[in-house]
Amino acid sequence: MILMQEIANFIRKVRLDFILSGQQVLEIADSFKESMVAGLGGRESCLKMLPSFLARPSGREEGIYLAVDFGGTNVRVLLVELEGRGKFRVLDRRLFQLRDSREGYDFTSPGATARELFGFIAGKIEELVLEGKEYPLGHTFSFPSRQLGVNRAVLLKWTKEIKTSGLEGEEVSEILLGCLERRKLQNVVPMAVINDTVGTLLASAYDDAGTVMGSICGTGHNTCYVEPRWPLTGKEMIVNMESGNFDRFPLTFYDRLLDSESGKIGEQLLEKAVSAHYIGDLAGLIIREAISEKLIFTGLDQKFFGRNFITARDISLLLADQSKELTLVAQWLGSKGIADSLLEERVALKTVASIIITRSAQLVAATYLGVLKHIDPQNERQCTIAVDGSLYELTPGYAGKLRLTLDNILKEKAGLAKIRPARDGSGVGAAIAAAIARLLPQNGPG
Ligand code: BGC
Repeated sequence: MILMQEIANFIRKVRLDFILSGQQVLEIADSFKESMVAGLGGRESCLKMLPSFLARPSGREEGIYLAVDFGGTNVRVLLVELEGRGKFRVLDRRLFQLRDSREGYDFTSPGATARELFGFIAGKIEELVLEGKEYPLGHTFSFPSRQLGVNRAVLLKWTKEIKTSGLEGEEVSEILLGCLERRKLQNVVPMAVINDTVGTLLASAYDDAGTVMGSICGTGHNTCYVEPRWPLTGKEMIVNMESGNFDRFPLTFYDRLLDSESGKIGEQLLEKAVSAHYIGDLAGLIIREAISEKLIFTGLDQKFFGRNFITARDISLLLADQSKELTLVAQWLGSKGIADSLLEERVALKTVASIIITRSAQLVAATYLGVLKHIDPQNERQCTIAVDGSLYELTPGYAGKLRLTLDNILKEKAGLAKIRPARDGSGVGAAIAAAIARLLPQNGPG
C-alpha cells in the first residue's frame, strides 16, 4: 500500500536537502571566488587554476586546421576552416568510440595503455588527412592537465572514470606526437593542446570579444575564464580552473554515498553533484532509499535503481514527460522491467529528477557568479558565458534554471551577463588555438 503522506514527506526532505536558497547560492559564489584567489596565489585550494598560455583570439585567425577532441568515451576528429571575421566552417567531422564491446576493445580501461589509446586516435586522423598536404593540429584534451606551454600538457589525473594506464603524470602531447610519427604522419603538425572549456571560450570569443568564461556541462563539468592579469606576466590569460574539483558547497547524504562508491573518493565533488556522468546515479540512490523505506515500488528487487540504472539521458526523458498520467515515465519504467507502476511512484521519480537537475544548475550558476565577483565585482561590464555539453543542451529546463539562478542574484544587472550555447565549441576552439599558436614567435618562420 502506498502512503501518500509519507512519500510527500520524503520528497519534501529531499528537496530541502538539495535545493539551494538564494543566500546559499551567494555563499557558494563567495567561497568559489575565495578559492580562485587562493589558487591564483599558489595557496592551498580545491581550484587548480591552470594557465592555458593562451589569450582570446582576435577573430582574424584564418586557415584550415585539424582538430582532435578527446573528451571521454569518444573522440572526434574535425577539419575546420577559419575564415577570419569570426566565421568558421566545419569541413569534415567524424566521431569514434573509444570502447566498443562488439568490436572487443576498450581504450578507457586499465587494461589499455596510453600508447594504444593514442595509436588508435592517430589511426583515425590518418583516415581523414591527404598525403602531401600539411595540417596544423589543435588537440582538445578534456582532463586536468598542467600546461608547460601552449603545445605541452601533462595529465595530472584522469576524471570521468577513465582509467587507461600509463598516462597520469605523462606528457600527453609527446605521446600523441610519437603515435603520429609511427604512422609516418609528418604532415600532421601538433600546434596546441587545450582543455575543452578553453576550446569553448575560444570558439565563442572568435566572434564575441566579450566572452569571459567557457564552461562544459556534459559528461564532466568544468569552467575556464579570462584572467585579466595573470600574476606572472601581468597579461590576459585563459585559466582552466578545473572547477569540477570545487568542494565548498553543502553535500547531502546522497552526495557522500555516491562519492564513497566512486573511483576517486573525495575528488571532483562538484562534478559528482552536477555532471551527466553522475546525476543518474544520484537520482537512483534517492529512489533506492525511498524503496528501502517501503514508500514506493514496494517489493522491488535490490538490482533496480543501482549504478547506471538511470542515465542522464533517462533523466531528460523523464523530465520531458508533460502528460497527466506520465505515460512516458511509465513506458521507461516498463522498458527497465518495472511494469504496472502507480502514478504516485512516477510523480516521485520525475520530481527527484527535477530536484537533481535544479540543484545542478544552481551550483553551476553559483560558480559563474563567483567568477564574476572576481573579474567584475561591481557587475559593470557586458560579458558572455559560453556553455557546451549534453546536460546544458539536452536536459529540459536546465538552461532556464541556470539563467534564473543568475537573474535572481544579479537582479537589474542580469542583462549584462549573457549565456550563450557554444555547440562544437571544443573542436572549433582547438582549431583556433592552433591558429593562435602558429603565430607565436617560437613557431614563426626561421
Ligand atoms: C575534466 C575537465 C573537463 C570536464 C568537461 C572534467 O572531468 O576534469 O578537464 O573540462 O570534465 O569535459
